[in-house]
Amino acid sequence: MNPIYRSVLNRDVKFAEPGEFAPVKIGRMSIWPPVVLAPMAGVTNYPFRSICKEFGAGLYVSEMINARPLVDGRDKTLKLADFGPGELPRSLQLYGTDPYYVAEAVKRLINEGRIDHLDMNFGCPVPKVTRRGGGAAIPLKPNLLRNIVRAAVRNAQTVPVTIKFRMGINLEFLTFITAGRVAEEEGCAAVGLHARTAAQLYHGHASWDAIAELKQAVKIPVLGNGDIWEAEDALRMMRQTRCDGVIVGRGCLGRPWLFRDLADVFNGSEPSDPPHFGEVLEIMFRHAQRLADWFGERLAMHSFRRHSSWYTKGFRMSAEIRAALMRVETVSQLLNLFCDVDRSQPFPLSAMRVVRGKATGTQKVSLPAGYLDNLDDDTPLPGSGEDAGDGG
Ligand SMILES: Cc1cc2nc3c(=O)[nH]c(=O)nc-3n(C[C@H](O)[C@H](O)[C@H](O)COP(=O)(O)O)c2cc1C
Repeated sequence: MNPIYRSVLNRDVKFAEPGEFAPVKIGRMSIWPPVVLAPMAGVTNYPFRSICKEFGAGLYVSEMINARPLVDGRDKTLKLADFGPGELPRSLQLYGTDPYYVAEAVKRLINEGRIDHLDMNFGCPVPKVTRRGGGAAIPLKPNLLRNIVRAAVRNAQTVPVTIKFRMGINLEFLTFITAGRVAEEEGCAAVGLHARTAAQLYHGHASWDAIAELKQAVKIPVLGNGDIWEAEDALRMMRQTRCDGVIVGRGCLGRPWLFRDLADVFNGSEPSDPPHFGEVLEIMFRHAQRLADWFGERLAMHSFRRHSSWYTKGFRMSAEIRAALMRVETVSQLLNLFCDVDRSQPFPLSAMRVVRGKATGTQKVSLPAGYLDNLDDDTPLPGSGEDAGDGG
């Protein structure tokens, strides 16, 4: 690797020694390297998963699917819940707040033979969700959490179920240890912890110490999540926390080759240099074309605009091209914009550890009135299952 990249990348980290790490076992699945693509609403659809998968092995989770519209058989939800030809394992993240709808949704997924792994989301910090007692508010009520998880595990038959959550609502209401124990007692195959509270959103640094604490508290595999920007970070997280695997979110936005680097470091070798601009553009065009084939060009190219800004971050390009990227309607318009750019540009150092995907800032978490008065309550709140479109 070019020393100039090594200088920014913590490359003093030792790559894995033979036998130092093992595949992470999730039910019958054995995942090597122990790396999971984080579910990301609006991002981790089949086209993006297929691009990531070309770079390395691991587990690639779908974007979040709402239980209620899945049960109702809404076309848009069923399309989002679809997997590509030959995609294996088929890993789907489900969001639900009512054990009844979760049970019905899981029955449908299982009866139709749609999935090989089910993940459940209990970490969504979005105000419109927590305000109704959904998302990250659920683990505050362990009995409700238990009933939802039980509904999923019982109906999933032999398909392994994992749950993903945050540390808690805020530093005063930390729920991750209880959530881990509920998962273990209800027969989950693993748990994933995004080591921030809902109040922290994506701000500051993830508290990897919480991952270590959870690992001590449960016997099922723990997947650590938060702030893996480069492959070396995954090794550091695993060594520091003893977690069994890592979940990678924003670090791969516009940089799907991160999965190649992860495979390299876990297999004991140094990752290659990041691609130059010409290679990045080829990956970006491939991604855009697959999205257009999957969702139809218009819808795809609208949703692709933010991917374009992630792929091109830090590269030299005129302000006109950057502005035009935000207006692109077709794949050929996208291709034409890059006719005259300098494709030989090396990957910019300035783009290497840059936060993508979510802005900084914290929040005071909104909860329904009186929500904290009876934390033993297990009644699902009406309307809490809707509108969780923004994920994690
Ligand atoms: C655009 C975006 C969408 C997300 N959607 C979901 C989601 O649907 N379900 C979920 O559990 N987490 C979701 N998350 C959270 C990620 O899965 C992950 O927990 C978080 O980004 C922290 O990991 P990172 O530091 O590697 O990015 C989302 C994050 C982003 C940036």
